[in-house]
Amino acid sequence: MFRSDLLQDKRVLITGGGSGLGKSLGRRVLELGARLVICGRRADKLDATRAEFDAEFPGRTATHVCDIRDSEAVEAMLEAIWQDGPLDALVNNAAGNFLAKSEELSPRAFDAVTSIVLNGTAYVTLGCGRRWIAEARGGTVLSIVATYAWTGSAYVTPSACAKAGVRALTQSLAVEWGDRGIRLNAVAPGPFPTEGAWDRLVPTQELEDTWRNRIPPKRFGEHGELADLAVFLLADQSSYVNGEVVAIDGGEWLKGAGQFNFMEALTEDQWDAINPKRKKG
Ligand code: HXC
Repeated sequence: MFRSDLLQDKRVLITGGGSGLGKSLGRRVLELGARLVICGRRADKLDATRAEFDAEFPGRTATHVCDIRDSEAVEAMLEAIWQDGPLDALVNNAAGNFLAKSEELSPRAFDAVTSIVLNGTAYVTLGCGRRWIAEARGGTVLSIVATYAWTGSAYVTPSACAKAGVRALTQSLAVEWGDRGIRLNAVAPGPFPTEGAWDRLVPTQELEDTWRNRIPPKRFGEHGELADLAVFLLADQSSYVNGEVVAIDGGEWLKGAGQFNFMEALTEDQWDAINPKRKKG
């Protein structure tokens, strides 16, 4: 889909890039010539991913152990990264989430999710933006949100609050920093199977089957599909796209929203009864 040098020598930080969607996206930006920095909480996971990437793209990946909930740790990481030169792009991918009845959430449980998804994302984004502004150079931020950043969602209230906050962060800073050559966009993925999210959010086969059936094309997303959308939004060629949130979910959220969408459950006989004038093909 893209020229192989689309991101040549762009320096890209992906938070939570040691696993899941962040790792898939990391591989894709390396394939397109970027230099990659990944951060995460666990050194072993980061080291394993770097070793994997180094085998294919030697010396192109750096790692930083960093819990983005800790603003001082974020500053220390950004200082260390900038010692080797500025970043060109940031991907806010790190997240936390679990299914819970909201009335059962403890304050610490609420904070556990929002402190990663909203506060952590803000710390890294503001830290990169400050540096880009001080150096009078541009930069690109891409955040991974969720379609419930627009709609909210039962049973993942902390994540929905935080993802809506990241959408607001994206739209606010896209305007505030737009004249500084900094642009911010987000993607809102539907279900893309990953170990971290699937274990927590789709723990049984029955839930997985119910979910798949709700999606118009009756399938989950493939990581490469999300990675290619992300790459498009990171590339200089999309520089007029700013403050946008792009859904990539096979139409899943619209399926839940359209007033008459439930009628797909009607049988032919029921259609005959409610619309005697219908012309059958
Ligand atoms: C209720 C829970 C809980 C659960 C933790 N807590 N898990 N409460 N149900 N399943 C509570 C704990 O009891 C504790 O509160 C508080 O949260 C902090 O728990 P810790 O285990 O100390 O937190 P921590 O180790 O920091 O773990 C963070 C986490 C965890 C968010 C809770 O799930 C995590 O590390 N996740 C990272 C990976 C991940 O979630 N990936 C999926 C992202 S998917 P008390 O009061 O007891 O002290 C995504 C979008 C999906 O974001 C979109 C799908 C389409």
